[in-house]
Amino acid sequence: MSTTSDLSFYLRPGDGLHGRLRVPGDKSISHRAVMLGAIADGVTRISGFLEGEDSLATLGAFRAMGVPIEGPDAGRVRIAGVGLGGLRAPPSALDFGNSGTSMRLLAGLLAGQRFAATLVGDPSLSKRPMRRITEPLARMGARIETTHPGTAPLRITPVAGLCSITYTLPVASAQVKSCLLLAGLYADGETCITEPAPTRDHTERMLAAFGHPVRRAGSRIRIRGGGRLSACRLEIPGDISSAAFFLVGASIAPGSDLTVEHVGVNPTRIGVLNILRAMGADIRLINPRDAGGEPVADLRVRAAPLQGIVIPRDQVPLAIDEFPALFIAAACARGETLLTSAEELRVKESDRIQVMAEGLAVLGVEVQPRADGIRIRGGDYGGGRVDSGGDHRIAMAFAIAALRAGAPLEIRDCANVNTSLPGFADLAAGVGLGIEERQT
Ligand code: S3P
Repeated sequence: MSTTSDLSFYLRPGDGLHGRLRVPGDKSISHRAVMLGAIADGVTRISGFLEGEDSLATLGAFRAMGVPIEGPDAGRVRIAGVGLGGLRAPPSALDFGNSGTSMRLLAGLLAGQRFAATLVGDPSLSKRPMRRITEPLARMGARIETTHPGTAPLRITPVAGLCSITYTLPVASAQVKSCLLLAGLYADGETCITEPAPTRDHTERMLAAFGHPVRRAGSRIRIRGGGRLSACRLEIPGDISSAAFFLVGASIAPGSDLTVEHVGVNPTRIGVLNILRAMGADIRLINPRDAGGEPVADLRVRAAPLQGIVIPRDQVPLAIDEFPALFIAAACARGETLLTSAEELRVKESDRIQVMAEGLAVLGVEVQPRADGIRIRGGDYGGGRVDSGGDHRIAMAFAIAALRAGAPLEIRDCANVNTSLPGFADLAAGVGLGIEERQT
C-alpha cells in the first residue's frame, strides 16, 4: 500500500544522461497477468513482473481470495490458477492503496462472483470516479454500492448471474473497457463494447494468450461469457510509462545518449514516442521483437532541440500517463505547446493539470491551465521547491526537469514513486541524474 512516510528528492542541475538501463515491468500488464493467471486453469509463470505497490496490491487481493501465488522473486511469479469459479470470499476488505487499475478491473471480475467483497483505497483512490464502472456493471445486473459522489469504498453483493450488454464507453478508458471484459467472462452470452478512441489493449491480447480470444471489428470488441482460460507463460516487457521519464530526460539534456532496453512498444501505448518525435526528439527503435504477445524494442534517444506543438487529440489516450513527463519536454521546447481534450488528467492519481501547472509556475515556466489541458511556453527555467501532490509520475517528471533547471530543485512527497517505479532514484543516478533521496 502507499507509504505515509515523507520522502523528498533533491536534484542538482547536471549533465546529460548516458549509457543503458532497463526499467521495471509494465504496470498495466503486471496487473492483468495476475488477474488472468488467478482465474485460469493450471500454473501460470510470469517473468518481468513489476514489484511496485500497485501491482503488489493486485497480487495480495488474489492471495486473500485463496489463490496460491509464489513470488515475486526478481520479477518471477508462479500462480496456481483456481479457474473461473474458484475464487473464495476474502476475509476482510481488499485494500488497493493508490491503484485505480486494481480497483476498477477487479470490480468487474468480482461483480460475477458468488461472494460479497468490499474494495477500499487510499485517500487519492477514494476520490476517483467509480460510476464509470458501476453504471455499466449495474446494467449487467451487478449490485455495487459506492459513496454518494460515486467513489470508493465499493461494496459488491453477489447476484444470481450477470447478463451481457452492448455498451459504448462514454470515456476512452482501458480500465473501464477491461472491467467490462472481465465481467463479460462471467455473463450470459456475448458482451459487446465500443470504444470512442483506441486505448491500451493489453487485456484483449492477454485473453488471447490464455486461449479465450475476444473478437474485434473496428472500435467494437466482443467477449463470450463462460468457457475457461488456460494457464500460460508470460514475459512482461519494460514499462514505457517508466521509460518516458528517461526518454524526455535524454531529449532535453544536451549531450545525452541513452538506450532504454526491452521497452513495451504496443501501438496503443506509444503516444509518448509519437508526440516527442513530432516535437523533434531523436528516438530510434532498435531490435524490435515480440515478448509474450506484446511488441518490444530497445529505445535509443539522443538529445535534440525540441519544438512546441499542438498535441494531436488522437494521441491523448495513447499517452495518457505520460503527460507529466511531456509537460517537462514542452517547458524545454522552443515556442508553445498546447494540449486539449485531456480532461481525464484531472481525475488521475492527482489532478495532473493543476499540480503540474503549480510546479511549473514555481520553476518560472509560463503556463496556462485549461479545463481540458494546458498551454506551456518553453524557455529557460530555475529551481525551487515543488510538491508532487503525492503523485508518482509528477515526482519523477520534476526530477528529470532538473536536467535543464538553472538552480537546484527539491521535490516533496515522493514516496509514491514506489507505486510504479521502485528504485527510480538509483536507476536515474546510474545514468547521470544528480538525485538524492532524503526522508523528511
Ligand atoms: C490503465 C489505464 C489508464 C491509465 C492507468 C492504467 C490500465 O487509465 O491511466 O494508469 O492499466 O488499464 P484509464 O483507462 O482510466 O484512462
